[in-house]
Amino acid sequence: MPSLVLQGSSSFKGIYCPPGDKSISHRAVMFGALAEGESRFTHFLEAEDCLHTLQAFESMGIKINLNPGKGELQIQGAGLQGLHAPKREIYLGNSGTSIRLLLGILAGQRFEVTLTGDSSLSSRPMKRVTEPLKKMGAQIKGRDNGNFAPLTIRGGNLKSITFDNKLSSAQVKSALLFAGLFAEGETRILESLPSRDHQERFLRASGANFRREKNVLVVEKTAALTPLCTEIPGDFSSAAFFIAAASFTKGSDLLIDKVSLNPTRTGMLQVLRRMGASLEVEKTQELPEPIGKIRVRGASLKGARISRDEIPSLIDELPILMTLMALAEGESLISGAEELRVKETDRILSMVTNLNELGGKLKELPDGCMIEGVKGFRGGKVTSFGDHRTAMSLAIASLHAESSVEIEDIDCVKTSFPSFFEDFDRLKARPEK
Ligand code: S3P
Repeated sequence: MPSLVLQGSSSFKGIYCPPGDKSISHRAVMFGALAEGESRFTHFLEAEDCLHTLQAFESMGIKINLNPGKGELQIQGAGLQGLHAPKREIYLGNSGTSIRLLLGILAGQRFEVTLTGDSSLSSRPMKRVTEPLKKMGAQIKGRDNGNFAPLTIRGGNLKSITFDNKLSSAQVKSALLFAGLFAEGETRILESLPSRDHQERFLRASGANFRREKNVLVVEKTAALTPLCTEIPGDFSSAAFFIAAASFTKGSDLLIDKVSLNPTRTGMLQVLRRMGASLEVEKTQELPEPIGKIRVRGASLKGARISRDEIPSLIDELPILMTLMALAEGESLISGAEELRVKETDRILSMVTNLNELGGKLKELPDGCMIEGVKGFRGGKVTSFGDHRTAMSLAIASLHAESSVEIEDIDCVKTSFPSFFEDFDRLKARPEK
């Protein structure tokens, strides 16, 4: 398990185009595979999680061409019923989006498949998806009554259900919206707090039988999906690490370009504004996904509160927000974020433990944490616990440490952001001579 020693503060300068969006890259492969005909995408994220999705569809007979290192993807869609049983079980590594969304698609297929993953994925709760899919008619077996991978699913003959997405999970919603394409009747999903809406945008663009009635999503059996041709926006969740770094280091002036500005993803920007960050945002495209530029300049930050209503729009940014809040002046409070405990790791526990190890003052709460800002971190040895977003947050923390920070187990950044450490080095402004 490789570790890395980081030392020294720096401002962040330049123009940065983040890698392709992870959530959209997964869905690009899935919608491309299920469409009738050839789809083409550019700026596909060539990270382990998305490559697992790609390989899963290849193993089910879909022809996919990826120009390696270029993010150009060409998919020969075989239609909603065109997948074939794979020769062996499908391994999905660390990827929660792959396994949960695939379950929704496989619920509509008439063959049996077993889905497996690494130790983190195998300990994440799947009942949230498998229970409603079983109600729709899929047969699913797995440890603890289908709560943990390996999961064996046999689909077919689905009927619609009405489901309240109380966890505000985009993965659960998306799995059921996929299954709804194969089900008799109207599958209705109620969402009181909106989660990321990429699935809805893909359904509309592909001509699915889908509509929204206020906060209820309605999908009906669909005969065919049309192929798509589009550029995948830059991932806001990856850019978030450098937005955070620049917003809190004196002299920084960083322009993030071609980044997703989907409002269901950018809740972090509102929090940063409340903290006193200097941000200028310009939208350059609205459809199929909002894209634009974010200019970040260094400022002094103060503490803020984040509560339940905002959580879905910044769920993946909480580790980096906790890092910033640990250094901001005054107190911060995060509540209503119990979902963080069932991510790749328990991110409340891992971030509180790591930031306290570096000299932060954080107190764990069942659904979040209380944070008292400190002027800077000491140095020390911390660990990602195998979680990519924890590793990257700790790298940003090192910019505000008196002495070196050793981060153990950094290889996990490959799951979502393989070029993170390279980009981190490149964007650090060299000291003027
Ligand atoms: C995702 C949804 C979120 C997010 C994950 C990606 C998606 O998970 O944390 O990184 O692409 O649908 P939940 O649905 O568990 O909130």
